[in-house]
Amino acid sequence: MRFNILTLFPEMFTPLFTSMTGRAAEKGLLSFHVVNIRDFSTDKHSKADDYPFGGGQGMVMLPQPAFDALRSVEAEKTRVIYLSPRGRKLDRALAEELAREEEITLFCGHYEGLDQRVIDTWHMEEVSIGDYILTGGELAAMVLADTVSRMVPGVLAGEASAFDESIYSGLLEYPQYSQPREFEGLGVPEVLLSGNHKMIHLWRYEQSLMLTAERRPDLFEQYVKNHGELSKDERKVLEKVVGCCKIPV
Ligand code: ADE
Repeated sequence: MRFNILTLFPEMFTPLFTSMTGRAAEKGLLSFHVVNIRDFSTDKHSKADDYPFGGGQGMVMLPQPAFDALRSVEAEKTRVIYLSPRGRKLDRALAEELAREEEITLFCGHYEGLDQRVIDTWHMEEVSIGDYILTGGELAAMVLADTVSRMVPGVLAGEASAFDESIYSGLLEYPQYSQPREFEGLGVPEVLLSGNHKMIHLWRYEQSLMLTAERRPDLFEQYVKNHGELSKDERKVLEKVVGCCKIPV
């Protein structure tokens, strides 16, 4: 999958070229094409922003460098996303939808905003990563690119994908423990050392259910309505947790 990323601050995108997304890029599963919008300014001082018509605080990103940067990646052939606190909230459903695209274009705003003619002409979809204001769209673009990347087939090492595709889908992750068995007097739950895979699985499932019911009752309610197929034992565990929370299965 190819990400075109249009920004005034290309140097901010180093994290995408490291760790899991970096390895996936080396393998050719992902490509991050970072474009400096300022490079397209025809102004002799490479100006990319100016004062807003009508007055007011801050600067507005200009249409000319934005249009030419978008043309340079043939953004008209892709979904174009403008990261903005005004947009549709990013969630798993949107990330999954975007992961099915072969190529997307992310436009990072800065200053007080982007000339509305850019948003309208390029049919930009505005996407927000949460109800808070960042200093620019770069971090939001990285969050979006990261979560979409991990949904591209082959990017995740098998184990981490368990939460996306199994009975755990839609639940919060159960607690994990590793070596040593005892650390500064702190032990680990006995069941994990038992070697009984069925018991371990049911314990983890129960932990996931309880954490979700306690911390995210909204997700839990969804899960109870929409969970996939369960074994008899898994169903018993679910009914027990539901019984504690008084939510009908
Ligand atoms: N730009 C500034 N704040 C933002 C947010 N919350 N989400 C996406 N882009 C942004």
